[in-house]
Amino acid sequence: MSFANKTIVLTGASAGIGRRLAISLAQQDANLVLAARNQQALEQTLTACTNYPGKVIAVATDVTQAEACQQLITQAIAAFGQIDVLINNAGIGMLTRFDEVRDISIFEQVMRVNYLGAVYCSHYALPYLKASRGLLVAISSICGKTGVPTRTGYVASKHAMQGLFDTLRIELHSTGVDVVVISPGFVATDIRQRALGADGKPLGKSPRDETQGNMSVDECVRQIIWAMERRKREHIMTLKGKVLPWAKLIVPGLVDRITAASIGN
Ligand SMILES: NC(=O)c1ccc[n+]([C@@H]2O[C@H](COP(=O)([O-])OP(=O)(O)OC[C@H]3O[C@@H](n4cnc5c(N)ncnc54)[C@H](OP(=O)(O)O)[C@@H]3O)[C@@H](O)[C@H]2O)c1
Repeated sequence: MSFANKTIVLTGASAGIGRRLAISLAQQDANLVLAARNQQALEQTLTACTNYPGKVIAVATDVTQAEACQQLITQAIAAFGQIDVLINNAGIGMLTRFDEVRDISIFEQVMRVNYLGAVYCSHYALPYLKASRGLLVAISSICGKTGVPTRTGYVASKHAMQGLFDTLRIELHSTGVDVVVISPGFVATDIRQRALGADGKPLGKSPRDETQGNMSVDECVRQIIWAMERRKREHIMTLKGKVLPWAKLIVPGLVDRITAASIGN
């Protein structure tokens, strides 16, 4: 699949993976509809995307609000008349042990962004994706594949995403819409510094050593686009992630120990 002249709706486009992904897709002459809450940061992404032939619009959107997601899709159709790809990338993290949580609303907040945001955007975009025989993309995580300590709510939200999109793939079989679930490992963005801590507030500082073991945002985006071009059903980014589903069947206790050791906090 080539993205030239295709219309792509991308959530979480104001920072990190989403911003870089927007720029790479603009370089491929895609038309882009960029969504996130922070309008100023979204405009910065838009500006970085404007030197290419495709048209780009930014729509300030809080994906936790169903009406806002509906409005995002309405504006995409008003601007371009079609949607070829929806990339559900918006996400937030949490980093605290379950028994240390003081603000239980963390679980709802994370689920509303990572899971319900993807539900709402996919729901409103689906008729247009069917019309274009398009692509539905979920940026999940290796946390969607197994338990990871200090991330209970995040892991649950990414498992929910995985289940949602695996089921949609089956339902959409023979409609021409393909579903791609992408699972990165650690990527060098500010997601862990923005992650919610035990008190429900952003940590402000990552608890892990971010100088080691992170994939670059450029490499992550290169792999996302590679998987999208091939309309892959699934792309897991790290070797550990690839081995994990098999290892869980044979030595699940060992997988738990390796996961606990690898989180670095
Ligand atoms: N970085 C990693 O290590 C890693 C690993 C595996 C998977 N992932 C996944 O990759 C995706 C992107 O993460 P990232 O690392 O690029 O994180 P990031 O740098 O923190 O960016 C997150 C993006 O999501 C947006 N967002 C958050 N809450 C939102 C809401 N309520 N409505 C709309 N947009 C919202 C943010 O924009 P606003 O704040 O402006 O709304 C921002 O654009 C996430 O789904 C994440 O779970 C990341």
